[in-house]
Amino acid sequence: MNAAVRPLRVALLHGPNLNTLGRRPSRHYGTITLPELELQVREWGAERGMVVSCFQTNHEGAFLEHCHAIAGTVEGAVVNPGAWTHYQWSIRDALELLGAPFVEVHLSDVEAREPHRRVSVIRDLAAAAIWGKGPDGYREALDVLARLIGAERGP
Ligand code: DQA
Repeated sequence: MNAAVRPLRVALLHGPNLNTLGRRPSRHYGTITLPELELQVREWGAERGMVVSCFQTNHEGAFLEHCHAIAGTVEGAVVNPGAWTHYQWSIRDALELLGAPFVEVHLSDVEAREPHRRVSVIRDLAAAAIWGKGPDGYREALDVLARLIGAERGP
């Protein structure tokens, strides 16, 4: 198939506790559940010529092994590593291995919460970081990837 028309493969990766969206404090995370969010991101992706594959885990090793498995098979990723963002260096190494641009997304405004949430061990690897915009941040992340990957692919 012509590379220009093949859908872009994008991974949506979520870390710990994000499976409990809908039950977490709504002032930070709203009321959307993870299945609802994943469906929404899939739809936004489809509108942008992307096929979005979704993965969430509460287990560091499972996250690492998933990154190893998809490395080289996706053109981009949208990643919300949850609390791992702030301290988990192995996640950083695994994301580096992806070999594709990724956008770091947080539903809540991590800059306006506790000081430890202002630290991100993946920020400098990320093509962009978006926080505090709720689910809309994921749509923006897809737009960032569409621009980046489109530019890489050429006209
Ligand atoms: C989060 C922010 C993190 O600080 C927190 O640990 C999460 C979710 C967010 O989406 O706002 O689990 O990544």
